[in-house]
Amino acid sequence: MDSTYRQYFALQKEPFAADIPRKEILVTPVLSAVQDRFHYALRLGAVTLITGEIGSGKSTTLRYCVGGLHPSEYLVLFVTASAGSILEIYRQILAELGVENAGASRAKMTRRIKQEVLELAVGKKMKVALVIDEASLLRLEVFAELHTLAQFEQDSKPYLPIVLAGQANLVDNLRYRNSQPLASRVVAKCHLKGIDQNTMEDYLRHHLAIAGVNRMLFDETAVTAIHQGSGGLYRKANHLARGAIIAAAKSDSAMVTAEHVRLAATEIF
Ligand SMILES: Nc1ncnc2c1ncn2[C@@H]1O[C@H](COP(=O)(O)OP(=O)(O)OP(=O)(O)O)[C@@H](O)[C@H]1O
Ligand SMILES: [Mg+2]
Repeated sequence: MDSTYRQYFALQKEPFAADIPRKEILVTPVLSAVQDRFHYALRLGAVTLITGEIGSGKSTTLRYCVGGLHPSEYLVLFVTASAGSILEIYRQILAELGVENAGASRAKMTRRIKQEVLELAVGKKMKVALVIDEASLLRLEVFAELHTLAQFEQDSKPYLPIVLAGQANLVDNLRYRNSQPLASRVVAKCHLKGIDQNTMEDYLRHHLAIAGVNRMLFDETAVTAIHQGSGGLYRKANHLARGAIIAAAKSDSAMVTAEHVRLAATEIF
């Protein structure tokens, strides 16, 4: 697709981009409510869960929450889960801690991570938190391991709060027997659903403004079509909105309408 639509609508950059900087994230009431739970779990040294549909804004929400923590006070170990073994998670945690060569055995890696966390928490008076995105991909046995990782023998102080984000089956996985010790530390959970139509309108305006356009390009029918077509899910809305802008520019239309959204919808899943 060429980029003449950008000139047509005077868009200063690619609209509805996936990788927006933190300061350009739209702060919705839902985002603030998740942030409250995030802080609550961090204060208690407990576990919080953020679940949501695909493209509902989980990773963006995590980025927003983590980015709001002062780096002189907090060290966030941010990892992205995979379907691999716990060793893969440990490797990522150690990399976040700046540790190389902690050995390849599970026991050595666990010991080293705990040592580092204690040194930061007790020695340096830092607050440490473990944030795992895509946690719905984790194998069941990993939940038991994570519980062990967050247990410190010296005292029962909760030095390592954990935030888990992923699709809804994350909650089901935490109901299994072996996951129960970790599940029992959950103090808050929230589920990101599709946004409502008014928020969708705000969202579309917001992304246009990020791209330097302060005029609302989408008419009411287009907003409704994007809302319905996306089920209120951000990523799908991005694709529909961008596609509809392209279709409108092609047909030399100053406004984006439901018809343009329909054309865009034929191109995506
Ligand atoms: N609050 C927001 N403000 C602005 N844009 C947002 C916001 N939330 C989500 N987005 C947009 O929606 C896109 C999809 O969001 P995100 O990647 O966070 O969803 P996700 O739930 O993590 O998806 P997945 O299930 O694939 O992991 C982002 O790339 C961003 O463009
Ligand atoms: Mg994500």
